Amino acid sequence: MSYAANSEQSGQRKKRRVTDVVARKGGAPLTALTCYDATFARLLEKTDLDLILVGDSLGHVMQGGDSTLSVTVDDVAYHTRCVARALKTPLLVADVPFASAGFSDERLFSDAEKLMRSGAEALKIEGASLEICRQISRLTSHGIPVMGHIGLVPQSVHALGGYRVQGRGEEAQQRLVSEAQRLVEAGCFSIVLELVDETTAAAVTNASAVPTIGIGSGNVCDGQILVLQDMLGLNLDFKPKFLKHFAQLENEVVGAVSTYCREVASRSFPAGK
Ligand code: KIV
Repeated sequence: MSYAANSEQSGQRKKRRVTDVVARKGGAPLTALTCYDATFARLLEKTDLDLILVGDSLGHVMQGGDSTLSVTVDDVAYHTRCVARALKTPLLVADVPFASAGFSDERLFSDAEKLMRSGAEALKIEGASLEICRQISRLTSHGIPVMGHIGLVPQSVHALGGYRVQGRGEEAQQRLVSEAQRLVEAGCFSIVLELVDETTAAAVTNASAVPTIGIGSGNVCDGQILVLQDMLGLNLDFKPKFLKHFAQLENEVVGAVSTYCREVASRSFPAGK
């Protein structure tokens, strides 16, 4: 018996599939977070999240880098395998890293194969140039679901002049609306809007036949995504305007480890016989 049939019969949460994500357009907002390891994936499995992204933000969160450019397909594949082992219910999406989409078909299709074989159920690709949309079209027509990503696309951070809000003004708004429409035509099942001006995010959401998932783009999208470690407050110094710390785990972790150090030093842990 398949997992889906099994879970539905036993009243557990239903496995989220690409078709469920598409069906949420204009409905209850989609909930999404990033995840990079099995420990957190096990915890996220206990929640009601719809979608997990193994994002190339792992370059910041897991590798301590200051951009996503150094992340390789083997890095994303490794973290996707770790998450896939502990995750059953949310849709698992893996990020296609820098220098793949838009560079060469061979590179992108071999990366896509690697990520799907690692346990991803869909891929996310940054950008919406004609070349990238042509490649997305080939992937989607061969059964690989693709999530688009426009607005602030971190793999192009140097060309964009830094991490800044995108889509301000009439012309920029029209450009993003056209990009979203191209991605829909190429077969994307959803589109991430990162750091997009809220009025423009609303225009893109209204013009797009598939759900938009926002990060730093206001409350107008069909869903929201955040980086897990950011929203859990594991680095309280990182507080861009759009971010909410839903917990302050940095304090919890530092407190617990400091208590451990004190107790070991004073020989109160482990407790004697
Ligand atoms: O890499 C990532 O985590 C992302 C999300 C922030 C959308 O692209």
